[in-house]
Order: sequence, then C-alpha cells, then structure tokens
Amino acid sequence: MRQAFDLQGKTAVVTGGTRGIGKAIAIGLAESGADIVLLQRSDDTVTQHEIRELGVRCEIVRCDMENIDEVKEAIPKAIEMMDSVDILVNNAGIQRRAPAAEFPEQDWDDVIKVNLKAVWILCQQAGKHMLEKKSGKIINIASIASFQGGLYVPAYAAAKGAVGQLTKALANEWSSSGINVNAIVPGYIATEMNTALIDDPVRSRQILERIPAGRWGNPDDFKGAAVFLASAAANYVHGHLLSVDGGWLGR
Ligand SMILES: NC(=O)c1ccc[n+]([C@@H]2O[C@H](COP(=O)([O-])OP(=O)(O)OC[C@H]3O[C@@H](n4cnc5c(N)ncnc54)[C@H](OP(=O)(O)O)[C@@H]3O)[C@@H](O)[C@H]2O)c1
Repeated sequence: MRQAFDLQGKTAVVTGGTRGIGKAIAIGLAESGADIVLLQRSDDTVTQHEIRELGVRCEIVRCDMENIDEVKEAIPKAIEMMDSVDILVNNAGIQRRAPAAEFPEQDWDDVIKVNLKAVWILCQQAGKHMLEKKSGKIINIASIASFQGGLYVPAYAAAKGAVGQLTKALANEWSSSGINVNAIVPGYIATEMNTALIDDPVRSRQILERIPAGRWGNPDDFKGAAVFLASAAANYVHGHLLSVDGGWLGR
C-alpha cells in the first residue's frame, strides 16, 4: 500500500502555500515525493526553502488570485516550467466578516473572485491539460460553510457552497477521463484567517465546546487527507467532499 501513496515523479500546483493550511499541504505532498509549484502573490520564499530541503523541486509562479488575467496564465506557466501538472490544490482563500445588511459590495466581489472565480479558472486550465493526459487529481479546499451558512460571512458561504457544487460538477464530467476532482472540508482551524474568532473569547469558547474532537484543527491535520486525494490510493474517489473538521459536521 505504501506505493499507492507515493507521489514521486508527480508535480503538484498549490495555491496559497505561504502559510496556514496551504503551506502544510504543500509540505505534506513534498514529503510524499511530489515536486511543487507554489502559486502565490508575494515574493516570500520560506515555504519554497522548506520544501527544497526535502530534496524535491519547488518553484514559484507569481499569481494574485484577484487578478484574473494572472490566474489564467498561471497553469500554462507551471506546465511550461515543469512539463506536466499532475495535481492541483486550490487552497488560497480570503474571509470578510460583516452583518449581511451592511456587507460591502467590494468585499462581496473580492471574496467571490478569490474563493470561487479563481478556483474555477484554475480547475478549467488544469482540467484541459489533464484531459489530454487522461490523468490528474484536483483538490479544492471547501469549508464547513459549503454546508452551513455561518455567521456574518454571506459571501464566503456563497463562494464555498459553490466550490462544493463545482467539485461535483467537474467530477461528473471528468471522472471517466482519469481525472479525480474532490474537495477537503476544513472545520475550525487555528490560522490567521480565524484571528477575529480566536481573539473573541466568547465565540472562541462557543466554537471549541461544539467540536467533538475537543480542539481546534491545525494546518498539519490536512497533510494526510491531501496526500490521500492526490495519490493513486484515491483513484476511485470522485466528487467527494472530505471533512477534516474534528467531527463538527456530524454533530
Ligand atoms: N482556517 C479555517 O478555519 C478554514 C476553515 C474552512 C476553510 N478554510 C479554507 O482553507 C483555505 C486556507 O485557509 P487558511 O486558514 O490556511 O488561510 P490563511 O492562513 O489566511 O492563508 C490564506 C492563504 O491564501 C493566500 N491568498 C489570499 N489571498 C490571495 C490572493 N489574492 N492571491 C494569492 N494568494 C492569496 C494567502 O497568501 P498571502 O500570504 O499572500 O496573503 C495565504 O497563503 C482557504 O480556502 C480557506 O477558505 C479555512
């Protein structure tokens, strides 16, 4: 079975690998042997250095997910650089919090662009390439907000709900061509995205009390699920939304 999880010889494109869940996933895939292309907007090289120390190749393609022209160029650039893209992890995401009645239009547009439109464009670009090769793995990072509306996060819930449906729609079209499209559903994870919740003692306690596992998640909790869905072990897994949430959704 170990071979089924081996990613040696595969190239994975990971968005938002500078920190948080994306960084842990990129490192996890590299620890399983994959070469990595980090799609990121900053010139931060910390993740790249950490991955190169594992003995695999790691390159950066600059891409701001708010700039759709840059997003459209990113996968072709990665293919040119590495010859092939075998795995795509759509992880980059943003959060904007405000009561729905006052939710700013600009925040709505930003969240939908980064969390949904950029995901769609990257899936489409990688999908075209994977259809030619008749193989590939796409992993979208959804959210418990793909199922639940959340509080004060209407744009985020709308975008993540759509990411769940997009995952299934693409799986329906592409599974017979050797492409696996799945999603990971994080619960409450202690990253910068949740600083506002973690710093609010009441919300923080309320959330913790509802997590069956009795703790917030951390980025390393995502390595196993990502390696599984990126590997041959998941060859017959299609259109699945895999919760990594400490049991939150089952409660
Ligand atoms: N944390 C949670 O509890 C939780 C729960 C459910 C789902 N998720 C999802 O998991 C994913 C990762 O979340 P996280 O908690 O790890 O978030 P995070 O710590 O805030 O990291 C977000 C990542 O996305 C990148 N990013 C944001 N806007 C970008 C843009 N315009 N262009 C390029 N990159 C951009 C950031 O890059 P910079 O360093 O350049 O800003 C960073 O690498 C997101 O899709 C999020 O919605 C998280």
